[in-house]
Amino acid sequence: MKDIKIESTLTIYEDYNELPKNVALLMDQAIEIRLKAYAPYSKFLVGAAILLDNGEVITGNNQENASYPSGLCAERTAIYYAGANYPEAKIVMMALTAGSQKQPTTSPIPPCGACRQSISEYEVKQDLPIEIYFMGVSGKVVKSNSLANLLPLGFDRSFL
Ligand code: THU
Repeated sequence: MKDIKIESTLTIYEDYNELPKNVALLMDQAIEIRLKAYAPYSKFLVGAAILLDNGEVITGNNQENASYPSGLCAERTAIYYAGANYPEAKIVMMALTAGSQKQPTTSPIPPCGACRQSISEYEVKQDLPIEIYFMGVSGKVVKSNSLANLLPLGFDRSFL
């Protein structure tokens, strides 16, 4: 028997203004689409912007439903559109922002477990790490160099 230690390294930016220009531009698109989220039930708006290696930017936001589980997170709305329309393109970077309409959201909001699993599928498929930046509405921004950092012991195609 032995213990193993799993470590992830994340980069923390003090705020949006500290982001490299290209990342800030992608985050701008995530912010823009967050404001168009359809979230009448949770009042929690999420925006995702995805940069592809062909230069295209895909955006998505959360789409809720009166039948709650039928709704979909912003990350998956965006990434499935990217996968459907640009099946050959690789995902370079994702910018995520989330905010409640009920209270200020000043801490970085990470993607949920289901979204991590979905993003992981594309990272494995393209065999290239996806950089992920996530923030609230204001405050610190977290950068992960790859999805794998956010999902240790991930389940992937190699097990099938
Ligand atoms: N949500 C996302 O869009 N992405 C996440 O990673 C976490 C949660 C949405 C789903 C739901 O519409 C609302 O946020 C509250 O959970």
